[in-house]
Amino acid sequence: MVKVTVCGAAGGIGQPLSLLLKLNPQVTELALFDIVNAKGVAADLSHINTPAVVTGYQPANKEDKTAVVESLRGTDLVIIPAGVPRKPGMTRADLFNINASIIRDLVANIGRTAPNAAILIISNPVNSTVPIAAEVLKKLGVFNPKKLFGVTTLDSVRAETFLADLLNVSPGSLQGRISVIGGHSGDTIVPLINASPEVARKVSNLTTDQYNKFINRVQYGGDEVVKAKNGAGSATLSMAYAGYRFAENVLASLAGKESTAAIPDSSYIYLPGIPGGKELSTKYLKGVDFFSVPVVLEQGQIKSFINPFEILKVTEGETKLVQVALEGLAKSIDQGTAFVTASK
Ligand code: NAD
Ligand code: LMR
Repeated sequence: MVKVTVCGAAGGIGQPLSLLLKLNPQVTELALFDIVNAKGVAADLSHINTPAVVTGYQPANKEDKTAVVESLRGTDLVIIPAGVPRKPGMTRADLFNINASIIRDLVANIGRTAPNAAILIISNPVNSTVPIAAEVLKKLGVFNPKKLFGVTTLDSVRAETFLADLLNVSPGSLQGRISVIGGHSGDTIVPLINASPEVARKVSNLTTDQYNKFINRVQYGGDEVVKAKNGAGSATLSMAYAGYRFAENVLASLAGKESTAAIPDSSYIYLPGIPGGKELSTKYLKGVDFFSVPVVLEQGQIKSFINPFEILKVTEGETKLVQVALEGLAKSIDQGTAFVTASK
């Protein structure tokens, strides 16, 4: 029996993500919350002949808090793509003003109603929204760092796709053999592509120009989609796929399945809450506490992480990229944390 709640379920990501979750036979209840059209999306999905019972929750008015609470009651996993997406000319940080309070309020409801649920945060800027969530849960006294995940899987999906194109191999063959660490925005995104000897051998044939263009394309892949959609939003379908890929990992771990990937998918997490995380932060990350690393899951939570610097053959060039990433991350984390500590 697994209940999954999607907050922001009627949006560009929320709808295809909910569709993919409805197809997962492990999900017995799928609760869709949105401030608009959640009931319509739920009615639509409920006609699909898979076991998950789909329910839609939307508030009757601005003061109505019962819908969100009901959607969260007894849930095991909450996935949040609620909030506004970018338009051309904007950075993810420009979304902070609107999305910060959306995440703060949703996570407060999760903390009060379903404190044991795993929480996957998709809403941007992820580099700040995850620290916001952590701070809200801390304030409520229910923060479990093993169950709070910033979803950065789209960066890995892009890295696999773009690198496969350059190496002329199938994109699927790179899943679990390369990794992306850091944050989820521009130069905070750091692809690592030398961990597996076979991939490293092929990568060594790339020219410097090809490698630099690859790194830039992974770091700024989101801009490509924002530009192509020309005001109609950002990545939704590739994000629904990526969000589902990570949710599927969590669901599989809830069912007791162990990942067979050589390198598991990364997630942006609060390192000091995981065994060995404070050491990683102090020794390699200048004290930055939120960072995306490959995570090993067990029973719907983080069992351990892979220390990239000790296991994934990080090169000198990649170490420099990490140093750049840390600067941006430190600012975004401080901004997120201060937003909650400053509010009542
Ligand atoms: P969208 O506008 O299509 O959908 C957002 C949905 O959230 C809407 O249906 C809206 O009604 C709903 N919503 C707004 N406030 C809400 C609230 N308080 N409670 C519940 N629902 C609420 O946007 P989208 O394209 O689906 O993107 C959503 C977010 O995901 C954006 O912030 C975007 O930047 C982010 N995103 C993240 C990644 C990533 O890799 N982590 C990738 C793509 C997009
Ligand atoms: C992405 O990487 O596609 C998302 O973070 C959306 C965006 O704003 O680029």
